[in-house]
Amino acid sequence: MALLELRALCKNFGGLAAVNNLTLDVQAGSIISLIGPNGAGKSTVFNLITGIYAPTGGSIVFEHRTLNGMRPDRVTAAGIARTFQNIRLFSFMSVLENVMVGRNARMHASIADSALRTRRATREDREVEHRARELLDFFGLTSYGSEWARNLPYGMQRRLEIARALASDPRLLLLDEPGAGTNPAEKQALMRLVQSVRERGVTVLLIEHDMHLVMGISDAVHVLDYGEQIACGPPDRVRHDPRVIEAYLGKGA
Ligand SMILES: Nc1ncnc2c1ncn2[C@@H]1O[C@H](COP(=O)(O)OP(=O)(O)OP(=O)(O)O)[C@@H](O)[C@H]1O
Ligand SMILES: [Mg+2]
Repeated sequence: MALLELRALCKNFGGLAAVNNLTLDVQAGSIISLIGPNGAGKSTVFNLITGIYAPTGGSIVFEHRTLNGMRPDRVTAAGIARTFQNIRLFSFMSVLENVMVGRNARMHASIADSALRTRRATREDREVEHRARELLDFFGLTSYGSEWARNLPYGMQRRLEIARALASDPRLLLLDEPGAGTNPAEKQALMRLVQSVRERGVTVLLIEHDMHLVMGISDAVHVLDYGEQIACGPPDRVRHDPRVIEAYLGKGA
């Protein structure tokens, strides 16, 4: 069984089928990419998996558990973390604190524990900080640790988003256009980072606009267009699929 299984997943907004009958498997240890033109339904798929939207039909199964209807915080606790297409950092918190916040989903000390500074809360604080610093190191952000997130160069903010998502120790990481707004060199570097995240044992589902960027790193590529899956398979096959070429370049290309 795959780590994540989407079966005949549908989401309608009024008369619009934003996601129509999507079936997709994400095997543990893989990098799977979801590509497609603007408005194809890619981000909606993430919003369905993470419980922001309830599916109109179909099912989402993660490690044998059905996620349909689960609240976003429960989905995180179940082992799925994500980033957003538009950066969502705490601007006036430090880079280190942003990552520490991401770890909260895993902690057990209650609010009362924290207020009373119990031994459990203090031990957890230390553990959270230690792990956050490790992640900053992994993402080349150590020298920015005490800066406000809003003062980071844009490309670094993109990295910080991923670091924060990983702080909850997910088994599945959903990345929604992690390279949006960055320059080509930064994008290439990000793709290498995605590979090293996978090497750490985290499975990745990646949304990207630029099909060429994901080709080199994906085990499989799924192409959406107007909510429909028009192709899926290994990158080389998908790249040469006439429907994909047409969706990207328009008829007559
Ligand atoms: N909350 C919503 N209410 C109504 N329509 C929505 C909503 N969210 C998304 N849509 C519509 O669903 C379709 C798919 O949107 P989605 O954001 O999933 O596309 P996308 O593939 O992520 O596009 P992009 O590459 O531009 O990010 C679009 O037509 C969009 O306008
Ligand atoms: Mg999107």
